[in-house]
Amino acid sequence: MSEKNKTFTVTAALPYANGPLHIGHLAGVYIPADIFSRYQRLINNDVAFICGSDEHGVAISLQARKESITPKELIDRYDKLIRDSFEEFGISFDNYSRTSRKIHHETSIEMFNDLNKKNLFSSKTTKQFYDEEAKQFLADRYIIGTCPSCKFDEAYGDQCEKCGATLSPDELKNPRSAISKSKPILKDSKHWYINLDEFEDFIRDWITKEHKDDWKPNVLGQVKSWLDNGLKPRAVTRDLDWGIPIKIDGEEGKVLYVWFEAPIGYISATKEWAEKNNKNWNKYWKDKDTKLVHFIGKDNIVFHCIIFPIILKMTGDHILPFNVPANEFLNLEGNKISTSRNWAVWLHEYLKDFPDMQDVLRYVLTVNAPETKDNDFTWKEFQMRNNSELVAIYGNFINRVLTLIIKYYNGILPNPESIDEENQKIINEAKTFPKLIGNFLDEFKFREAIKSLMNLARNGNKFLAESEPWKLQKSNPEKVKEILYVGYIISCYLSILSEPFLPFTSNKLKSQLNLGEIDSWSELENLDSKIDFSFKIKSEGVLFRKIEDDEIIKQVEKLNKMSSQ
Ligand code: 2FM
Ligand code: ZN
Repeated sequence: MSEKNKTFTVTAALPYANGPLHIGHLAGVYIPADIFSRYQRLINNDVAFICGSDEHGVAISLQARKESITPKELIDRYDKLIRDSFEEFGISFDNYSRTSRKIHHETSIEMFNDLNKKNLFSSKTTKQFYDEEAKQFLADRYIIGTCPSCKFDEAYGDQCEKCGATLSPDELKNPRSAISKSKPILKDSKHWYINLDEFEDFIRDWITKEHKDDWKPNVLGQVKSWLDNGLKPRAVTRDLDWGIPIKIDGEEGKVLYVWFEAPIGYISATKEWAEKNNKNWNKYWKDKDTKLVHFIGKDNIVFHCIIFPIILKMTGDHILPFNVPANEFLNLEGNKISTSRNWAVWLHEYLKDFPDMQDVLRYVLTVNAPETKDNDFTWKEFQMRNNSELVAIYGNFINRVLTLIIKYYNGILPNPESIDEENQKIINEAKTFPKLIGNFLDEFKFREAIKSLMNLARNGNKFLAESEPWKLQKSNPEKVKEILYVGYIISCYLSILSEPFLPFTSNKLKSQLNLGEIDSWSELENLDSKIDFSFKIKSEGVLFRKIEDDEIIKQVEKLNKMSSQ
């Protein structure tokens, strides 16, 4: 376990508020971020766990247009749905904000103006497509035309969805506006750029000197390939009618580029939280001892490892990320998760079919997380992990310990006269688990961490199976007391160490074991002194239930049906 009282600013990628959350989101970003934040709190570190809805960008205005509603109606709908899903799955944000809030607009504009005043941007006037009927410039996605490679007639200005070619708007044959369908003209427009190229050496030095050993290889690999291709200036303003409006040099109709302001959302959400809780936000962004950790999916690596650090560096007084443990992608039943093809397990739907089984999904998505490579979620594995691990190992162990204490001692934990050497060894072994699991979590190895947790339950099961207390009740009642006391101690460790991973189960179990007050792993060190031998354990049913074959068959059928519609 790490030393006490460090400060962590933990951010989780702001989800776009234009669709519901699916299992890929949870596995890639929000579960590991939540496990990490909960763990840091449990070892007495100071944590600001920050997220919020990302509510700007072309994708949002395009979708609103498609659904014939305003962007505001769209983001309000999805912000609510997303917020509810996070809460239902126990994602313990300290603040979940929105980029449409005033505090975020102000913080982003202030940062832009500051950098501009310091002359850190360059500006350039270029010709951009303009729709004379709609009287607006057209972002790449707003231009449709014929793909130069496959001749598909509905290719977008940035990509052909038929053949996958990456395009720029001037490559399209017969370009037309997605808004009015008219032929766009080219018109001058001035934009402001971050000179990423000037920071190439800085990023290379920073990463190679400080992080070549502690960042994940998949992250380092992507950063290296961006650097090797050479960084180019990137515009941070756009001609759009949806976004954070920016007044500059008398230019009209400019907004901040969504990827400039969205990560600043982490800062504005921290400010909002600090204001409400009487804290100083500067501690979380400007104190060099604070550790800033960004949880993201691999598609966001360049923004969090290159562009946002450059913005932070340009301000002159913000800290840089300590780690960016980006995950790879989770596939579903062998195929890429896809919102447009409806190939996904949506969180709000999962809960309708498996109410109160959040921890099962949390468990399966962690044990099988796409930590170093893309991974596949299958309903069959979901069932197997539940039935043969959560039910057969974890649940079975706890159930046996509690049932025997209830059966033999009416629920009152026996206080044995002594503990023999063998049994003491079992207790000592359990005592090594906080450090073991903590070390994995310090290194962002969530799969290893949760496997260790399950090993603790496995040890407990093995211990009971080998010591067979049910055969000794007549011949050696003192030994039975000892065994069930040891079983209870392992259960205590299991309940408390489960909290970051399985918060609902941990709470249930803690209350069954009378450990409701314990909220720090350091209290495990003197667990013995906290045991109340007058407390009566009650039977409250099993922690996990078996999942039947027909439930799984139904899910696979649902998936195939939904995606073929
Ligand atoms: O890829 C995405 O879903 C983006 N909305 C992530 C933004 S993360 C951040 F920088 F705000
Ligand atoms: Zn094409």
